[in-house]
Amino acid sequence: MNLRSAAWFGREGKAGFVHRSHSKSEGYPDDVFDGRPVIGIANSCSDLAPCNVHLRQVAEAVKRGVWERGGFPLEFPTMSLGETLVRPTAMLYRNLMAMEVEEAIRSNPLDGVVLLAGCDKTTPAQVMGAVSADLPAIVVTGGPMMNGRFRGVQVGSGTDVWRLSEDERAGEITAADLRAAESGVSRSNGHCTTMGTASTMACIVEALGLQLPGSATVPAVDAGRYKIAQLAGRRIVDMVWEDLRPSRILTRRAFENAVVVNAAIGGSTNAVIHLLAIAGRAEVPLSLEDFDALGTKVPVLVDLKPHGRFLMDDLDGAGGLPAVMQELGDLLHADAMTVTGATVGDNVAGARRWDGEVIRTRAEPLLPPGSHTAVLRGNLCPNGAVLKLSAASPSLLRHRGRALVFDSYEEYVAAADGEMPEADPRSVLVVRNAGPRGYPGMPEIGNLPLPRRLLRDGVRDMVRISDARMSGTAFGTVVLHVAPESAAGGPLGLLRTGDEIVLDVGVRALDMVVPDEELARRRRELAGAPEDGGGPGTDGLGEASAGGEPPGPTGVRGGGYVELYRRHVLQADRGADLDFLVGRRGGAVPRESY
Ligand code: FES
Repeated sequence: MNLRSAAWFGREGKAGFVHRSHSKSEGYPDDVFDGRPVIGIANSCSDLAPCNVHLRQVAEAVKRGVWERGGFPLEFPTMSLGETLVRPTAMLYRNLMAMEVEEAIRSNPLDGVVLLAGCDKTTPAQVMGAVSADLPAIVVTGGPMMNGRFRGVQVGSGTDVWRLSEDERAGEITAADLRAAESGVSRSNGHCTTMGTASTMACIVEALGLQLPGSATVPAVDAGRYKIAQLAGRRIVDMVWEDLRPSRILTRRAFENAVVVNAAIGGSTNAVIHLLAIAGRAEVPLSLEDFDALGTKVPVLVDLKPHGRFLMDDLDGAGGLPAVMQELGDLLHADAMTVTGATVGDNVAGARRWDGEVIRTRAEPLLPPGSHTAVLRGNLCPNGAVLKLSAASPSLLRHRGRALVFDSYEEYVAAADGEMPEADPRSVLVVRNAGPRGYPGMPEIGNLPLPRRLLRDGVRDMVRISDARMSGTAFGTVVLHVAPESAAGGPLGLLRTGDEIVLDVGVRALDMVVPDEELARRRRELAGAPEDGGGPGTDGLGEASAGGEPPGPTGVRGGGYVELYRRHVLQADRGADLDFLVGRRGGAVPRESY
């Protein structure tokens, strides 16, 4: 088999000289360049991404494995995205990171790549880039932090932050109490401890077959994390010789497995968007409806926050994802190929559940089948919206109430922190202009903080609707990802305060009770057109007119990338990737310049 890297290091004459000579300046002996698989280690370690900062050490363990197996490891930095620090939202830059990863893989003398990721967007970004480049690739996620604890109680990332913050707004704890909890929630290196987006995506890539079985749940500070990294380093060398590329692993059956696992673990709604984007890169058909349809037979087995009680270290001790997948049995495609070179069925055959509280059985699940993701349709969301059933209040799943509509998150928060006299527990809280294009970047603001006055009255959940996302650690009866978003001409932009909204999750419907003629009139008014119709604007359903200035806010002045993003981002129901990045471009060797 001809190694791709031979096009650099295997050349005679000037070209080979230049490539080898400069790399030898790093201190490598001659024989390293004699036909060993060159393994890139794409490292998203950054001091600005606290969840990924330990990947520096993880990379060293990967290198051990690569050397052991006769490969040549070369670590390189990728862009990184610290979920808690990047503004306006890390999601704005997921596609930029994916683009950078793809181009770094293709443009360098690599035969395979190990992807080191952890924080929410870094995992899908690495995977999207690698899938488009389609060289052998294996993921090593960084693992969760140690379980949090505060004043004798176990506390989890995000979930308990939202809870404590609402307690403080309700006057039940002090600001000093809230601040004191900070160190207790985040006790070590690693990503969020709950089944938030980072944990979900770690499980998802394992379910897809892209990381070694049992990897997803091992804590960042556990010695096992480094063992996994070393084994992944060994395995990627073999994968190069086997030519085991993402395109051989990421079939429709692999995506169905990931959707089923997402339901069983009660995973983040962000996984819906990221999986749609990864499927787009892999050229595998996957739709929003698949999440609802495939989930109808899948019970929630894992009792983790935000929908349950425990944290990731507990899931690891209970047997980790292999035990969950073993319990799912015939709900999974056991014959799906994985990075091990074996099938999903082979990988999980010996898995055991060690704690029946944390991982339930299908016979006695935490939540019955169909309790996870609901995909809604209606005149408010013709291209779909998502609601996480396991995080919602059953009493609100069939609800009729009057909308309180806000054009920005900031406007809403200012109102919610005041008296907000027009709000009552039946009100439906709506924020728009928070979608991929509108914000821009589709931030995690969908779990709107409740009006302070109602919190004081004991209200702890209300129906909330937006074209935004929400953190995987969050909870509430929250309708997310409304598509098309208001800034792309979606009907959410036509809604007005006082309109009645009907949410009926049983029949997957979300509608505003406004006559069609009135909606048409509002649309003309919004477009600045005369009452007899016509005028500028978008078609109201989907992408902005090609070549025109996209509508939208923004108040965000970005550089060239932000403008590129606003012009090319797809809607949430298509994964919010950039339209020109969808698909697999492969890893053909670029032309040489020596
Ligand atoms: Fe990085 Fe949650 S903030 S994983």
